[in-house]
Amino acid sequence: MALNSRSYDLSPLIAEAYDLHETHTTDVEMLRRLIGPRRGLRILEPFCGTGRILMPLAEDGHTLVGLDAAGGMLARARAKVAALPGDVQRRVKLIEADATAGDWPGGFDLVILGGNCFYELASPEEQEGCIASASAALLPAGHVFVDNDHMEGPLPESWTRPGRHRTGWPSLTLPDGTRLEGYSENLDCDAPARIWRARRTVVVHHPDGRTDTHEYLEQKHPVSFAEVAGWLTRHGFAIEQTFGGHDGRPYAPDESRATFWAKKTVAGEFRISSLDPGRPEDVRDFQALFRSYHREIGVGPSTDEDDYLASVLKRLAESDRWFLLARDRSGNAIAFAYFKIDRDERVGWGYLLEFFVRPESRHRGLGRLLVEFSCGLLAERNVRRAWLTTNPAAGGFWRKCGFQATGEIHVNAQRIMAADCQPIHSSAT
Ligand SMILES: C[S@@+](CC[C@H](N)C(=O)[O-])C[C@H]1O[C@@H](n2cnc3c(N)ncnc32)[C@H](O)[C@@H]1O
Repeated sequence: MALNSRSYDLSPLIAEAYDLHETHTTDVEMLRRLIGPRRGLRILEPFCGTGRILMPLAEDGHTLVGLDAAGGMLARARAKVAALPGDVQRRVKLIEADATAGDWPGGFDLVILGGNCFYELASPEEQEGCIASASAALLPAGHVFVDNDHMEGPLPESWTRPGRHRTGWPSLTLPDGTRLEGYSENLDCDAPARIWRARRTVVVHHPDGRTDTHEYLEQKHPVSFAEVAGWLTRHGFAIEQTFGGHDGRPYAPDESRATFWAKKTVAGEFRISSLDPGRPEDVRDFQALFRSYHREIGVGPSTDEDDYLASVLKRLAESDRWFLLARDRSGNAIAFAYFKIDRDERVGWGYLLEFFVRPESRHRGLGRLLVEFSCGLLAERNVRRAWLTTNPAAGGFWRKCGFQATGEIHVNAQRIMAADCQPIHSSAT
């Protein structure tokens, strides 16, 4: 069990005090901006506490798993979730567990390490362990959000002088008149390692005059920007953006926060390339994939199919058409995206004609990556929007990719969905 992790469980009142004290939503708004129009993402929030960040994201339509070591914090989160509409409640799962144990669930699109959670951890090893666990919990091309106070350089004297007392969290009065008083006494500080130890005391003054005193030891390692950047890189992330505040201003050494938005790289997992009609191997894979796709959607083998495939290959010579092939580590073709710049219906938009991921390669983040890549290529050609038609059953996948229903119904009850085209970030491959 991590050294600090019981501090939120000293008294059930701590959770109530937390919700009175922490009412800001600037980090939630920042996350919403980073997520953009995508919906239905699977999100993991270790150190979720009473659900301040997790609940609004569930209300946005995402599926959330929260993990926290403090039963009291989770009990309050559960009570708050129980007051949400039934469909939102069903999208939230809360697990009581020590995040430093490393056995996080997997298969997520986003891991949130928010709310200063690295200040809950006692050492750089525990902090780096969380980055490693986030990497393991994410699908390829999933994101991690790491958001902490920025404390670079030597620790302030108020932290380092032994015996120095400071008053702090959770010093406040609850609505029923119960007064909480928290203070810490510096024990020792390893300045070069930036490790600080303190004796923390929380005194609860009940309205009837009773007093409870809780004491515990705490150790912190105020994390540096360079450390987080290094761990992200070491554990397979590409840092896409860094911020110095929740308003989205860029990180700078004198900023008060160090916030990272990083993507799990897919180097080695998948390779995406444009089909080259001159390469027999590409043509063979194109035909095999396309035929599998046709069988799945109920189109049987025929000479019409042969003619259609031949015409697709021929039309790829046109400059505004692409056929992307995705291959796995062994070089097997496992997915494709076929799209063009629309010259007929939504003139100047990208039009995603056909899209397929082999069933055994689904739920690994590849489909989302291929869509991102396709829209990115269109954005490079100054295409701002893309559209497609889909059957309603696949709508969830497209919402995850940022597509929204336009409300129009195409032939065969196909729904029309559209999205903005974002440039490909260099970390996408
Ligand atoms: C400052 S609160 C943040 C809560 C929430 N993320 C927010 O921003 O509102 C920190 C939370 O981390 C939890 N915590 C501390 N150490 C932990 C550990 N080792 N494993 C899991 N949770 C831990 C505490 O119980 C507490 O609920």
